[in-house]
Amino acid sequence: MPSNTMWWGSLRLLLLLAAAVAAAAEPASTLTGPSRPVTVALRKDRGHAVDLPDTDPRVQRRATGWAPEQITVALSAAPTSAWVSWITGEFQMGGTVKPLNPGTVASVVRYGLAADSLVHEATGDALVYSQLYPFEGLQNYTSGIIHHVRLQGLEPATKYYYQCGDPGIPGAMSAVHAFRTMPAVGPRSYPGRIAVVGDLGLTYNTTSTVDHMVSNRPDLVLLVGDVCYANMYLTNGTGADCYSCAFGKSTPIHETYQPRWDYWGRYMEAVTSGTPMMVVEGNHEIEEQIGNKTFAAYRSRRSGEQYRWLVKDLAKVDRAVTPW
Ligand SMILES: *[C@@H]1O[C@H](CO)[C@@H](O)[C@H](O)[C@H]1NC(C)=O
Ligand SMILES: *[C@@H]1O[C@H](CO)[C@@H](O)[C@H](O)[C@H]1NC(C)=O
Ligand SMILES: *[C@@H]1O[C@H](CO)[C@@H](O)[C@H](O)[C@H]1NC(C)=O
Ligand SMILES: *[C@@H]1O[C@H](CO)[C@@H](O)[C@H](O)[C@H]1NC(C)=O
Repeated sequence: MPSNTMWWGSLRLLLLLAAAVAAAAEPASTLTGPSRPVTVALRKDRGHAVDLPDTDPRVQRRATGWAPEQITVALSAAPTSAWVSWITGEFQMGGTVKPLNPGTVASVVRYGLAADSLVHEATGDALVYSQLYPFEGLQNYTSGIIHHVRLQGLEPATKYYYQCGDPGIPGAMSAVHAFRTMPAVGPRSYPGRIAVVGDLGLTYNTTSTVDHMVSNRPDLVLLVGDVCYANMYLTNGTGADCYSCAFGKSTPIHETYQPRWDYWGRYMEAVTSGTPMMVVEGNHEIEEQIGNKTFAAYRSRRSGEQYRWLVKDLAKVDRAVTPW
């Protein structure tokens, strides 16, 4: 929610049921039942959150050719399925942008129970999206090719190794990554460690939040909205802590700088390629553009099922067994 306090996410990071106090070597788990939360006092010295600039190596494109980048695993409707998403090709930003043809690169995931035995294959879909502003002086954006593949028939609570990309193009398959499926659905069966984080952004404070989250080895990351704050920027790449204060009166539409989404995807890949992450949209994802279109980046980049998944999944919780 907050627009000028992106670092806030670091304070709001709440490791669900973070039980035993810091000294415990093993991070707290939901499997050990309700436990006393560990809280920290609100820091009043908010300070100033500084975004990672586009010169930071963590946000730059390392993939070459049609190699996958921004690889992400997300849950699907059941513990026996999961989505793998990634991006190929380069985004364009500027005056004349020409959307890539999503058919250029296939969407294939090879997976299996061991890194040297990726015996299963699944195929999926690809799309591109554009963020267009028909206003003098504003720049347009069109994305790389966004791939979504659903794996099905997986065993619950099992580690899967996978590689994604286009096996028909040299150099267009990713390295081997691995993730663990969720446990079978049941009142006494749930992921051990869920990291719930909001207002993450992509500031230096985000990096300490993410480091802390990773050190607690979550089985699932739930990001409850406000992803990369691309809407704190003009299309020329100039950002501000408070968009309305800095630019509100001078821009014909609330602009965004879409490359921030790619930067975020690149920075987060180390987490999202190995730990399923579900993202719920927040107010910063609205992103108006031509024709009153909104949420184009969020919808295109996430396998749109996520919010429906969350609602459905929470509805399954037996409150008599897990009231917390
Ligand atoms: C951006 O796209 C819109 C819609 O197609 C177009 O009207 C506008 O001229 C484009 N902007 C630039 C700078 O080319
Ligand atoms: C946020 O990061 C800055 C450095 O960019 C640091 O000085 C500050 O203490 C951090 N704030 C919090 C709340 O961690
Ligand atoms: C972007 O546009 C703003 C507002 O017109 C201007 O102040 C700023 O200098 C521009 N930045 C760049 C990098 O052109
Ligand atoms: C966008 O919304 C405005 C205000 O609600 C409306 O007047 C306009 O016709 C809409 N434009 C399109 C292309 O739907």
